[in-house]
Amino acid sequence: MITIKSKREIDIMREAGKLVALAHEYLKKQIKPGISTKRLDQMAEKFILKHGATPSFKGYNDYPAAICTSVNEVVVHGIPSKDVILKEGDIIAIDIGVYYKGYHGDGAWTYPVGKISDADKKLLQITKESLYEGIKQAVNGNRVSDISAAIENFIKQYGYGIVEEFTGHGIGQNLHEQPFVPNFGKPGRGAILKPGMTICIEPMINRGNKQIEILADNWTTVTKDKSNSAHFEHMIAIKEDGYEILTEL
Ligand code: MF3
Ligand code: CO
Repeated sequence: MITIKSKREIDIMREAGKLVALAHEYLKKQIKPGISTKRLDQMAEKFILKHGATPSFKGYNDYPAAICTSVNEVVVHGIPSKDVILKEGDIIAIDIGVYYKGYHGDGAWTYPVGKISDADKKLLQITKESLYEGIKQAVNGNRVSDISAAIENFIKQYGYGIVEEFTGHGIGQNLHEQPFVPNFGKPGRGAILKPGMTICIEPMINRGNKQIEILADNWTTVTKDKSNSAHFEHMIAIKEDGYEILTEL
C-alpha cells in the first residue's frame, strides 16, 4: 500500500528531512584523514538525539549503528568501525536516517576525503546528477519507473554500473514503504505518482560493473570488481505541481 501524507504529516517529514540535512552539514565538517568511521557514527548519534530525534537505522533489522559509512568500494551499508580510518583520497558515502515525531527522514551523500582522483570526482558528480535526473521525474501523474528510466538513461552514457539489488523506497511512519523505486528500467510502469506521496530516490553507482557482494557481516555491500562506488539520496514529496526535496536546508 502506498500511503498519502496530509499537509500536517509532510510538515513533520520536512522537519525530519531538515534534521537529516543538518546532520550531513555537521558530519561533512568532521571528514578528514585520520578520523574513524566509528567516531563519525558517535557524533551523528549524539547530534540526532540532541535534536529530539532517534537514529532510524539503529536496530532496524538489527543494524548495529546510527549511520552507514561506506568507504571506496563499499557500495552501501558500511558499518562504522574504529578500524576504518579515513585517508586522503578516499570517498565516503554517509547515509543518515532520523525518526522524528513518528516519521522518518532519510538521505545519503558521498564526500571526498581531501584530494581525490579525477575519476572519483567524476563518479561523484555523475551519481549526484543522476539523482537530480530522477527527481525531475518525480511529479504528479508520472509513473514510478519514469524515475528509474531517467536515472538509467543518464548513467548509460558513462558506462558505470548501476546497482540493482537495492532501490529507493516510499517512506513515512516506516523507513521503507511502497513503492520501491529501482534505479533502472523502462519508463511508464508502476504506480502513478500523486500529491502527498513521499519517496526516497537513491542511485548507487559503481565505476566498474554492476555486480556486488555482501560480506559475512550480512550488511557491508561491496563491488565485486573492487571499483569505487557512490551513493546519493534525497527524500522528496510529490506536490500538485511538481516535487519538494525534503532533505535540504
Ligand atoms: N538509506 C538506506 C535505505 O533507505 C539505509 C538503510 S540502512 C539500514 O535503505 F540499516 F537501516 F538498513
Ligand atoms: Co533510503
